[in-house]
Amino acid sequence: MSDRLDKKIKERYTKYVLPSIKEARYRKNSETKYYDYQISEEARTIGQGKKYLLKTYGCQGNLADSEKLAGILESMGYTVTDNDELADIIIFNTCAIRENAEMRVFGELGRIKGLKKKNPHLILGICGCMTQEEVTTETLRKKFPHVDLIFGTHNIAMLAEYIVDIAKTNYEKGVVEVFSVEGDIYEGLPQVRDHKYRAWVNIMYGCDEFCTYCIVPYTRGKERSRKPADIIKEVEKLASEGYVEVTLLGQNVNAYGKDLEGYNYTFANLLKDLQKTSIKRIRFTTSHPRDLDDATIEVMASGGNIMPSLHLPVQSGSNQILKKMNRKYTKEEYLDKIQKLKTLIPGISITTDIIVAFPGETEEDFLETIDLVNKVEFEGAYTFIYSPREGTPAAKYENPLTPQMKKQRLLTLNKTINSYFLKGNKRFESQVLEVLVEGPSKNNDQMLCGYSPHNKLVNFEGPIELVGQIVKVKIIKAYTWHLLGELC
Ligand code: SAH
Ligand code: SF4
Ligand code: F3S
Repeated sequence: MSDRLDKKIKERYTKYVLPSIKEARYRKNSETKYYDYQISEEARTIGQGKKYLLKTYGCQGNLADSEKLAGILESMGYTVTDNDELADIIIFNTCAIRENAEMRVFGELGRIKGLKKKNPHLILGICGCMTQEEVTTETLRKKFPHVDLIFGTHNIAMLAEYIVDIAKTNYEKGVVEVFSVEGDIYEGLPQVRDHKYRAWVNIMYGCDEFCTYCIVPYTRGKERSRKPADIIKEVEKLASEGYVEVTLLGQNVNAYGKDLEGYNYTFANLLKDLQKTSIKRIRFTTSHPRDLDDATIEVMASGGNIMPSLHLPVQSGSNQILKKMNRKYTKEEYLDKIQKLKTLIPGISITTDIIVAFPGETEEDFLETIDLVNKVEFEGAYTFIYSPREGTPAAKYENPLTPQMKKQRLLTLNKTINSYFLKGNKRFESQVLEVLVEGPSKNNDQMLCGYSPHNKLVNFEGPIELVGQIVKVKIIKAYTWHLLGELC
């Protein structure tokens, strides 16, 4: 670092630690340390009379992290606002999965620049997966000097201390601290949950798969599992507080437990133990097709509170592309698992993620994906055009496809895949389903909406008091994106 830059940084920030993607790639095989979260005395009152605003992008992992950030802020005395102009701290919890996710955040950061002039004590913060990329953090620092606080996915638990540091300089200096190599696990972080009846429960953090297109292993660190007893305790507590449904979270939940000492407690063991808790519904995401084992399928088949739906991202139907993606399974192996799931769990609803236009994807490769879609008949899917991510192996692969060809493939895929959503919904016509009521329907507030065991969105008329309950609804008509029903 040049002396001039060093001086500028010292003037602007009290701490300055940048991530390095290279370091993340050569992660040490370090043992995970578990800590109990504690907040310092001086942090407890700093937010009194002040307001916070959190903007969250990306996956459920980020939603769950934001609930913890909100928990920390509220334990410091801050209260929530959704108005930029009233906020004393605004934090962007960002996603780096595709370029357009990042562009949205840069746009927002530019837009709110003026707020600092009105409120000189305003702290503008940014965290999440974008800050874990060294190039992005550099861009942020250079192009958005009004950002005061930059921290990463491994140091969420330190938010309160960063705010204390900034307050000590009378809000003049900022903090940049992003660790490249994995975090430890903090238990007992305060949490303000978004929802009253459905809760996210992290079971593990990080990802060791290194699919060649994906930034997540670099931004989230190595796979590390929470201890079974901590997870079971959390789920029991949620049930006793009136929660009806939990979604277990991990980038590859099927690898749960592999890093735990002795490795004799797997994801299937965890599901079996959670089946015995008093929570009424259990879902989980995301599963990796290679690691989804027979034991897990068998526990799912035994039913109870484990819901009959599964998100199983396939990414491509071409063996050549799957290999280049480092997915470690073939189209045939994927189809075998689907067959097993459909046989052992009749009526299971299977959804997926697919990337089109991965470097080197030929028309034949793409048609293999279409063929797979026709064979599996997915009931829901997220589909994406491949987006190169700096630092990942695939970013260096040649990709001769034109933007028009990429868009055309996405359109063709969506047309094919969407046709099965209606088919998947039709099978519920005239059936009575148990629906966990969410609240007023998004498009018509005279109606209620909720989700069936197969994770189908159901709209129906009923009193608002039903929110949070599981009620019986008879399905009258199926549409592509929802079911219409009548309260029984
Ligand atoms: N851990 C999960 C999900 C990861 S991110 C899994 O393994 O499936 C969610 C989805 O984003 C992925 O399933 C993939 O379809 C998509 N994705 C990831 N990286 C991408 C990239 N560089 N370009 C386009 N889509 C991407
Ligand atoms: Fe990314 Fe692959 Fe890990 Fe999913 S399994 S987070 S796609 S590297
Ligand atoms: Fe995005 Fe990070 Fe999740 S890159 S998808 S927020 S793990």
